[in-house]
Amino acid sequence: MSYKYSLPKKGETAQNILKHIEDFKKKEPDRNKAYMGAYCMVGSPEIQELMEQAYQRYFFENALVRRYFPGLRQMEDDIKEIAAGILSGGTEGIKVNITSGGTESLFCAMHAAREWARDKFPHIKEPEFIGPYSAHATITKSCHYLGMKLKRVPVGADFRADAKAMEAAIGPNTIGLLGSAPSWPYGKVDPMADIAAVGQKHGLWVHVDACVGGYFAPWAKRLGYKFPDWDFSVPGVISISADLHKYGYAPKPISTIAWRSEEYQKYHGVYPTEWPSQQYIAEGLVGSRSGGVLAAAWAVLHYLGEDGYMDYTRRTMDTKKKLTDGLIKLGMKPLDTDLCLILYESPEFPAEAVVGAMTQRGWTCMGTQRPPLIQLVLDPMAERIADNYLSELAEVIKELRAGKQGKKGELGYAD
Ligand SMILES: Cc1ncc(COP(=O)(O)O)c(C=O)c1O
Repeated sequence: MSYKYSLPKKGETAQNILKHIEDFKKKEPDRNKAYMGAYCMVGSPEIQELMEQAYQRYFFENALVRRYFPGLRQMEDDIKEIAAGILSGGTEGIKVNITSGGTESLFCAMHAAREWARDKFPHIKEPEFIGPYSAHATITKSCHYLGMKLKRVPVGADFRADAKAMEAAIGPNTIGLLGSAPSWPYGKVDPMADIAAVGQKHGLWVHVDACVGGYFAPWAKRLGYKFPDWDFSVPGVISISADLHKYGYAPKPISTIAWRSEEYQKYHGVYPTEWPSQQYIAEGLVGSRSGGVLAAAWAVLHYLGEDGYMDYTRRTMDTKKKLTDGLIKLGMKPLDTDLCLILYESPEFPAEAVVGAMTQRGWTCMGTQRPPLIQLVLDPMAERIADNYLSELAEVIKELRAGKQGKKGELGYAD
């Protein structure tokens, strides 16, 4: 056989294996220079320690068969109720399912909408959603799997979804509309009230992709930051995806998909019986899943509590201000984003040149292609690395001005 790597003939000792793992780990980027979701979003070393401990306690339990694990089931139910409360915007009756991440949450939303549309608009054979150009790539992927289309409409001059343009794009196959809170490429919360009003007028499903902001925006709003309403307080919003493994500070993989009521949640479940082992019930698309991540998510929610989330949000937003001011001083042009993402352009150099030079210095940067923007994803830990980022960026700018060109950086998700 000519495969590049194969199973060892003989097993190795645990000690040796751990040494190998440490060697692999040495190749990974410095955590203090990792600005994107490359690592879990973490605020403090204590939280990391707690999550590791909680995860380990439930490492081996399979949440697919939670009927055997009443403790695990209780933790999951608690997480769902907490999530419902946070995303509800004060409304009653919100239902939540746990998923493995934003991608699965969005898949579940698109799937439920499609099933709902089969009841409501049985004549539609090629269903489509309409969303802004800025909607996350994974929605296109879900639509592809589900035999649907995501029609992307240009965003407005402010980089937010343009509800009027979305309305104009509605066609005979449209079953739903969506927006983001905030969008990944531009960091702006879309005008969900306008989009949902269009949805109500045309009797469409309206989804909010709050994978990034779902567990950040509620605290930012309480702190007085202003941005468009997006949660279930907005009439006409039917489903919301929100990731606990982003600003819930839980380890990956865990997210939530929330439904306005049971009436919509009922389109989510698929429970086959036509096989030899009777009814098959899973929480979402994924079958077997780790109990560890549920225990860790439960732990972090209880460790932080409302006070902790408020504190993390305040600190993250303070760091955003510090970084934004610093970037402006360096001649950069940051976009006026709403929450925890910074996107900036360099008027002098292509974004790829800046990202390339920063990547060579060990920073895990990403960015947006259209227009070219450099992205920083902030978490509470960013306060400890903001000065270092700014001073290294200042050096990079000096080098670029002196004509020192490095390797071009990658703005997207290339493998
Ligand atoms: C707005 C938005 N939606 C969805 C996703 C997909 O989330 P995940 O990577 O957890 O599948 C992301 C990821 O960054 C995102 O930013």
